[in-house]
Amino acid sequence: MGFITSHLVILWLGLLSISCGASVGLAARRHKHWPVGGSTRFYEFKVQTTKVTKLCYTKEIVTINGMLPGPVIYAQEDDRVIIKVTNETPHNATIHWHGVRQRLSCWSDGPSYITQCPIQSGETFTYEFTMYQQKGTLLWHAHISWLRGTVYGAIVVYPKTGVPYPFPHPYEEHILILGEYWNKDVLQLEKAVLASGGGAPPADAFLINGHPGPLYNCSANDVYKIDVVPGKTYLLRLINAALNMEHFFSIAEHKLTIVEADGEYTKPFTADHVMLGPGQTLNVLVKAEKPIGNYQMATGPYMSAQNVTFQNISSIAHFQYSGAAVDSLSLEAKLPVYNDSLVVSRNLAGLRSLNATNLPLEIDANLFFTIGLNVERCNRADPNKTCQGPRGGIFAANMNNITFVKPTISLLQAYYKSVNGHYTEDFPGVPLKTYDFVNGAPNNIPNDTQSLNGTRVKVLEYGTRVQLILQDTGTVTTENHPIHLHGFSFYVVGFGTGDFNPMTARLNLVDPPYMNTIAVPVGGWTAIRFVADNPGVWFMHCHLEIHISWGLAMAFIVKNGNGPLETLPHPPSDLPKC
Ligand code: C2O
Repeated sequence: MGFITSHLVILWLGLLSISCGASVGLAARRHKHWPVGGSTRFYEFKVQTTKVTKLCYTKEIVTINGMLPGPVIYAQEDDRVIIKVTNETPHNATIHWHGVRQRLSCWSDGPSYITQCPIQSGETFTYEFTMYQQKGTLLWHAHISWLRGTVYGAIVVYPKTGVPYPFPHPYEEHILILGEYWNKDVLQLEKAVLASGGGAPPADAFLINGHPGPLYNCSANDVYKIDVVPGKTYLLRLINAALNMEHFFSIAEHKLTIVEADGEYTKPFTADHVMLGPGQTLNVLVKAEKPIGNYQMATGPYMSAQNVTFQNISSIAHFQYSGAAVDSLSLEAKLPVYNDSLVVSRNLAGLRSLNATNLPLEIDANLFFTIGLNVERCNRADPNKTCQGPRGGIFAANMNNITFVKPTISLLQAYYKSVNGHYTEDFPGVPLKTYDFVNGAPNNIPNDTQSLNGTRVKVLEYGTRVQLILQDTGTVTTENHPIHLHGFSFYVVGFGTGDFNPMTARLNLVDPPYMNTIAVPVGGWTAIRFVADNPGVWFMHCHLEIHISWGLAMAFIVKNGNGPLETLPHPPSDLPKC
């Protein structure tokens, strides 16, 4: 097959011996006030076109260094990370380091047309940032068009040397990164979907570490496997890198104990299944304490929206005890029904920070954003052409009824250099109209479901303590949306079903989880809090890629502060040009 799959097994050989691509003492472009002590980790990413055979079908996909999933970035807390990205494909590319808070390094965040112009064919851009006060499991992925369908990988940040995990040390660690795979070219797929005005076609398979598992057409031998020793405890670093699908995950007969979510420790919480929206990560401990055998690990869809066709066959991998007969039948993993939102809310309620330091108890800015889909009128130039959205309209999506329009140069450059005409600063802090967002939403498609279009941002003064309510709407369909904020983690202080009601909402101001992507409950709301103490332009969007394409996004501009380490540095000299 001529195709390399990365080995995502991490053997823990003591805190000093991290299996890292390279660790060199480069003189970094380190800010002079940065805490010193971390190492510098240098990686080279070549964006390449690679031939793969999956499901008995050979095609070319875009990869990093020929790998699916791509290479793992290893670091320790406070390390400097430098990744030189060279684009050897004909497509534009950028890479985003999802969950890296990019303290004073917004230029290296990566979302195309937000913090940078794309790296064009043949060009190079070097990303550089510090894992400042961060550790845990995160991910990186392409952040332009639908390229992240095949361009993604794990980020593993260990604690500083000598600092243990806050749980018994696992015998071994493994990365399991969930993906979504189409036999068609994802970039062409995106074009076709957007041209049609309709929904995204279902994936041909889901993947675990690049392998679909035995249940799809012609995939019997393309299965990922973890070998385990009876009696030992394993740390699994679960990452959902799927394009358009939220995923359940479970292991037959085994319980999963969540100890970290989105790269922040949690109080241990044990569940039979977990759900991850795209962009979310969970570290779970699993004890190999069952009779010797071969157990399935399964991932399958969580689909809360109405009237969507989707792939409902699970991707299977194996959790195989040493001593089990190689050809022994594997015990079947049971996943919740695809629309079991109760499992999702029960798990969310179980997520508690281990220590919620710096949770803002007072609030300067009270924001309220609705999130949801809408339908625009079909106004194609060709009268014979039909639009394939609901009732002959065009699918769109919005926040506070504003459909995000991608600018033509990056917002960060426009802001930094005060170039007029690329965005407006009037993104509304609250909805322009108030109504029963969930049950009384306008639904006379397309007549009353059109949104306003624009590249609108919300400006925040440095240090603003923000509370933001994310409210799902019932226009077209209610749906669980995984909302991701760049540049910050936020405390998830509350969530519920129906419309947010400040009189009755119960908030957790003691130990809320600290996350970077929150799956807002279907037909419900979530309250998040963060301190806007990182200057730059920060994208916030639904992490279902089709919803970004439809405009479910906005951006914050966080202004510089006055103190030291409160000003965004100059752009790097190799920042790509548009
Ligand atoms: Cu992981 Cu803007 O995305």
